[in-house]
Amino acid sequence: MFSSAAILFVLASFGLAQTTKNLVLTNDDGWAVAQIRAQNDALNAAGYNVVLSCPAVDKSGTGSSTATPTVLKTPCEFNTCPTGSPATGFNASDTRLNYVNAFPVDAARFGIETLAPKFFSGSKPDFVVSGPNVGNNLGSTVLISGTVGAASEAALEGIPSAAFSAATASQVSYTTLTSSPTSADSKATVIYSSLSVQLLNVLLASSTPILPAGISLNVNYPSTSSCTSASAFKFVLTRINSDPGATDVETCGTTHLPTESSVIAKSGCFATVSVFNASTKGDVNAATQGIVLAKLTSILTCSN
Ligand SMILES: *[C@@H]1O[C@H](CO)[C@@H](O)[C@H](O)[C@H]1NC(C)=O
Ligand SMILES: *[C@@H]1O[C@H](CO)[C@@H](O)[C@H](O)[C@H]1NC(C)=O
Repeated sequence: MFSSAAILFVLASFGLAQTTKNLVLTNDDGWAVAQIRAQNDALNAAGYNVVLSCPAVDKSGTGSSTATPTVLKTPCEFNTCPTGSPATGFNASDTRLNYVNAFPVDAARFGIETLAPKFFSGSKPDFVVSGPNVGNNLGSTVLISGTVGAASEAALEGIPSAAFSAATASQVSYTTLTSSPTSADSKATVIYSSLSVQLLNVLLASSTPILPAGISLNVNYPSTSSCTSASAFKFVLTRINSDPGATDVETCGTTHLPTESSVIAKSGCFATVSVFNASTKGDVNAATQGIVLAKLTSILTCSN
C-alpha cells in the first residue's frame, strides 16, 4: 500500500500521472481467452490504465449486432462464471476484468459508458483496443468481424480505436498462458501483445486528435511460425479492399496501397494497418490515410 502510494506521489510530482492513458480493452472471443488476457497484461506492464470489457462467451462473427445484456443461461466461457450470473459481471479479485453477456458492440459500449467513468475518475477512455482476435480479419471478413464491430462502435461514440487480429491463435482459456507458457499459441500472444503496445505507444504519443473522427484502424498480424520475436515484425500501411480505380495516399513510391490480404500472404513478417470508415467498414480517402501515415511513419515500412 505504502509503496504504491509513494509511487503515485512521485509520478504526480513529476507531472507524469497526467500522461497515463486510459484504455478500454475489448474483443469478440470472450473475456477469458488467452489473447485478451495477454494483451491486458502487456498494456498494464507498459503503464496504461486498463479496463477490460468483453463478451461473456465467444461472439465471433457477430459484426455490429447489438442487444441488451441478459442473465447467463449457460456458464461464461471456460466455466468462468456459473449459469444464472448477472448480465454484466466482474472478477471479484480484479474488478477491472469485466464480462458483458451480449455482443462485442455492447461490451465496448459498456466499457466506454459505464466502466470508464467508474475507473477513470469520470473521464472518457483515451482509446479503445479491440483484440487481438483469434484469426485474421482481412478484406470482406471485416464486415462480419465482431472485433472490427467493437472498434467501429468506439469510433462512432467518439473514442479513437483499433481492431487487432492475429494469425497464430486458438480459442483457449487464459489459464493456458501459465499452464503451457511455451506452446506456440502462448508465445504468439506475447509477441502480438507487444506489437500492439508498440503501435499504441506511437499513436497515443501523437498530437490530438489521436485519430480523425469516424474512422478506426484494422491491424492484422501474420503467423509467428517464421517470425519468432516481436522485433522481426514490421508494420505496413494497407487498404482493406482491392480498388484499382482508387487513388490512395502516396507512400512507398505509389498511390495504390497494397491490400492487407496480399501483404499478410507475403513472407517478411509484415503486420498490416488499414484505415477504415467506422460507418461503412470500407477504406477511407487518401487525405485521411495520410493523417494516419504521418502519425505512424516512425514504425511503417514498405512491403514492395
Ligand atoms: C480472477 O482474478 C484472479 C486474481 O488475479 C485470478 O487468479 C483468476 O484466475 C481470475 N479469474 C478470471 C475468470 O478472470
Ligand atoms: C464514412 O462513410 C459515410 C458514408 O459514405 C460518409 O458519409 C462519411 O463521411 C464517411 N466518414 C469518413 C470519416 O470518411
